[in-house]
Amino acid sequence: MGDSFLTLDDLPPGGKTVLLRVDINSSINPETGALLDDTRIRRHAATAKLLAEAGSKVAILAHQSRPGLLDCVPLERHARRLANLIDRPVKFIPDIHGELACDAVTNLKVGEIVMLDNVRFDTDEVTISSWNGEDFTPQADTALVRNLAPLADIFVNDAFAAAHRCQPSLVGFTEVLPMATGLVMERELRKLGGAIADGPTPRIALLGGSKAADSVAIARHFLSQGVDEILTGGVVANLFLMADGIDIGAPSTAYIRDHITNWEQVVADAEALRKEFGDRLVVPIDVAVSEEGLRHGLPVSELPTKYPVHDIGIETLVAYLARLEKAGTVIANGPMGVFENLEFATGTRELFTAIADSDALTVVGGGETTMAFTHMGLADRVNHVSTGGGACIAFMSGRLMPVLEALRHSKKRFDEGGYEK
Ligand code: 3PG
Repeated sequence: MGDSFLTLDDLPPGGKTVLLRVDINSSINPETGALLDDTRIRRHAATAKLLAEAGSKVAILAHQSRPGLLDCVPLERHARRLANLIDRPVKFIPDIHGELACDAVTNLKVGEIVMLDNVRFDTDEVTISSWNGEDFTPQADTALVRNLAPLADIFVNDAFAAAHRCQPSLVGFTEVLPMATGLVMERELRKLGGAIADGPTPRIALLGGSKAADSVAIARHFLSQGVDEILTGGVVANLFLMADGIDIGAPSTAYIRDHITNWEQVVADAEALRKEFGDRLVVPIDVAVSEEGLRHGLPVSELPTKYPVHDIGIETLVAYLARLEKAGTVIANGPMGVFENLEFATGTRELFTAIADSDALTVVGGGETTMAFTHMGLADRVNHVSTGGGACIAFMSGRLMPVLEALRHSKKRFDEGGYEK
């Protein structure tokens, strides 16, 4: 990773004014404004602390939610929570790039941290957000970059969870300030990227959940990167069964038709993948259907069914557990069924518990999966739980991500001596 991106080893931050972009977008009680989950703030606390202790002057940029939503609030509570976590003052500045913000950044002393306000209160931030695929000129040509860049020496991009976005606060500084990865970004890239392409073998991925179109793209990327086997569950498994020409029954077929955009193309993509990679893509041999809310097991050979498929069956579970036991690396993305309903939680709970108990390198990614691991009290027992939702899916699918491209570009520019400071 060090080859492609600048890190804090390349840009020693001591004595420097650092713009630190984090992703502390968190669940918030819209009535009280209270933070309901501080996982992301905890993760970024390490980077903020490291910079302050190294003697930097730190100005934090971050977003919370999207304009128009009730939880699109100022970052005052985020700043307070961060201050508690790192046991240092973090002064909240109710401004992003106006006079108040610029004065605060200019007057920073060594070791001090300020948090500027929610960048999504800035119109440019939400309107200049698409990528032309080439450079970041529109994002650079904004008041945010014009006003803050001259006050800073380096830009630390730690916002992995927003790395699939192309907004000014994420990529707009690329041409004017050298950009390094922070600790969160570094860990995400090392752990996620490492597990997919370099983890101990055999590398096994568990792909489930309802976002089946994403999962087909993830499966293709994983298999082409050398993941040995993909065990499917949830709607993803139903989709691959359909791709095999199996009639999964009216309710599950209707779900796919109603919930997956361009579903016929997605099934065709799944079919192509199945043909190309054959048995490395594993589908269930039995399923559990919901008969008026009650679990009923059924071999795949007895499909179709008039009931919806809500979990993998017990035979499949046993087979998947045996495969996981031999794994050197496990990457989990997506539950095996409707795990929120206890009746259909068996597949997900047993497999996720096996992953938590495994000696393999274990990595968990995606919003729904992270939620399930946390909900089941297993999140602390895996090697890495990604902070990314959409970003993690984009990364696992091998899609180009604007922030990673910006980091690559910055490294190149830095190596060529392109920055003035
Ligand atoms: C997230 O929570 O996934 C990130 O903070 C990105 O948020 P966004 O989808 O509103 O850009």
